[in-house]
Amino acid sequence: MKRCGNNLLHKCHPHKSSKDYDRSDTSWKDEIENEEMSKLINADCLTALKDIPDDSIDCIVTSPPYNLKGLKGVGVPKTSPARWNGKYKQATYGLDYAGDNMREEDYQQWQVDILNECYRVIKPGGSVFYNHKNRRFKCQLYSPMEFIDRCDLVLHQQIIWDRCSSHIPCPGMLGNSTEFIYWLRKEKPVVYKPDGLLWKCEVWRQMPVQGKKRPNHPAPFPIELPTNCILLTTQPGDVVLDPFAGSGTTLVAAKQLGREYIGIEVSKEYCELIGKRLNDILEF
Ligand SMILES: C[S@@+](CC[C@H](N)C(=O)[O-])C[C@H]1O[C@@H](n2cnc3c(N)ncnc32)[C@H](O)[C@@H]1O
Repeated sequence: MKRCGNNLLHKCHPHKSSKDYDRSDTSWKDEIENEEMSKLINADCLTALKDIPDDSIDCIVTSPPYNLKGLKGVGVPKTSPARWNGKYKQATYGLDYAGDNMREEDYQQWQVDILNECYRVIKPGGSVFYNHKNRRFKCQLYSPMEFIDRCDLVLHQQIIWDRCSSHIPCPGMLGNSTEFIYWLRKEKPVVYKPDGLLWKCEVWRQMPVQGKKRPNHPAPFPIELPTNCILLTTQPGDVVLDPFAGSGTTLVAAKQLGREYIGIEVSKEYCELIGKRLNDILEF
């Protein structure tokens, strides 16, 4: 896994391009203490999470790397052919970002350590929405519950994300069309059910983002998912955190809904993408 030594901060300001951010500026730590929240931090999340005070975050919505290459042992060589849309193309197993090619035991312990940091930073009534999926290797299913069970958070509800499209992982199996959003908690979570809530039951049907609206990232959330999590458990002014911010969809949803946000993302390239997406949101 690529580690980033410095805690680099992009302060999101509508009139600044992402290149203007002062990366040596670590005043974000003081600002978090002083509750001036909205921040994008270009750093390793386990390192950056340690600087966030206990019981300070209302809601976490996140999707980690799934270690798709690492689960399969050594990763699939980029040159091996995979059949896709009737043509031979480069293998499509695993994604090319940090955290996707680790020893599986190390990956699981890493996720437990991050979930325990999430436990520490959320308020007692806070919620963590952790997106993951059942993975397969050699026709065996690996459930994320194997390691979620080992963290300090309590499973409150298992939300099914129906992606409305399926692929068949290996012959002799049914199509695979779901992921999960594990709703995890510390104590009894604060829950609002405002009128604008998109789903009020535990199956959320939403296709992945396609076409021009898709940010330039391998695995962006459809914005409806973080939007529903945020509406369900926060109010305007509350603080939403995504420790694996990716293309920043959780932060975009939080900003659009008038919540404060903290995003952590290890890739500088994705931080620049997030900076642009956040800058494009009009301030009222
Ligand atoms: C599944 S993607 C998240 C996608 C995101 N939900 C979105 O809507 O775009 C996981 C992200 O975690 C980032 N990542 C991997 N290791 C990390 C680490 N140690 N600290 C912070 N981010 C990391 C990857 O670069 C990748 O962008």
